[in-house]
Amino acid sequence: MNDLSPECLSAAFAGRQYEFHPQIASTNDRAMTLLNEGAPAGTVILAEEQTRGRGRLGRIWHSPPGSALMLSYLVRPSAEAVGDAGMLAALAVCEAIEAMGVNGVGIKWPNDVQIAGRKVCGVLPESAWQGDSLMGVILGIGVNVRIDFSGSPLADTAINLKTVIDDVDRCHLLVELLNRLDAWSLKMGSDGLFEAWRKRLNMIGKTVSVEHAGAVMRGVAEDVARDGALLVRGSDGIVRRAVAGDIALG
Ligand code: BTN
Repeated sequence: MNDLSPECLSAAFAGRQYEFHPQIASTNDRAMTLLNEGAPAGTVILAEEQTRGRGRLGRIWHSPPGSALMLSYLVRPSAEAVGDAGMLAALAVCEAIEAMGVNGVGIKWPNDVQIAGRKVCGVLPESAWQGDSLMGVILGIGVNVRIDFSGSPLADTAINLKTVIDDVDRCHLLVELLNRLDAWSLKMGSDGLFEAWRKRLNMIGKTVSVEHAGAVMRGVAEDVARDGALLVRGSDGIVRRAVAGDIALG
């Protein structure tokens, strides 16, 4: 299904620096090159297929051609607001999916977008620094549109948009997403962006375990700090900060 036709893409990307690659190693790598060459905020790299797509925590991210919306979006926040970049991506994806008529969209900390508790999109923010100066952040976004998870280890935890929307048009989703990315990227550093992200987190108040680099933190996910860290109260009553990792219920 060619729902990313040249006509649709040139309309969706009108006025913006962008590249579309039928196949590329990773859109994040290409976007990082452009970031270092001075490309403006709002630049987008879109791919139909990635041969070395990356997920969080060093994982591989692969989607068959035609089955996902995979892009990297460039933002240039202040160094203080660097943590807001991932929030804005997750929030923009939630709103874009809702605009297509889907209910039950939430965020699993830190930035997985879920429908009915199953992952429909992952976000990979990667930042570029020169000393203490932040040059910019690449927001890698991968939305499961038609990936068939049946029979895979992800069958119970992942979902695709086709399950909840009859006829998904990736170009339509792209337009909705770019609108929200552009709008929220102007709000980096604001409490409004943070609160909108925080309200969508679906595990606050629940007993969770957070695993990172072989260590597990258990307790009640009480809240998030302004920098995005998850605040977990352990059975000893102490609140600890998780800044990365995989969160699970129980
Ligand atoms: C996750 O692990 O949940 C994040 C997945 C991010 C995947 C996207 S696809 C487009 C961009 N390019 C990459 O190599 N990764 C991100």
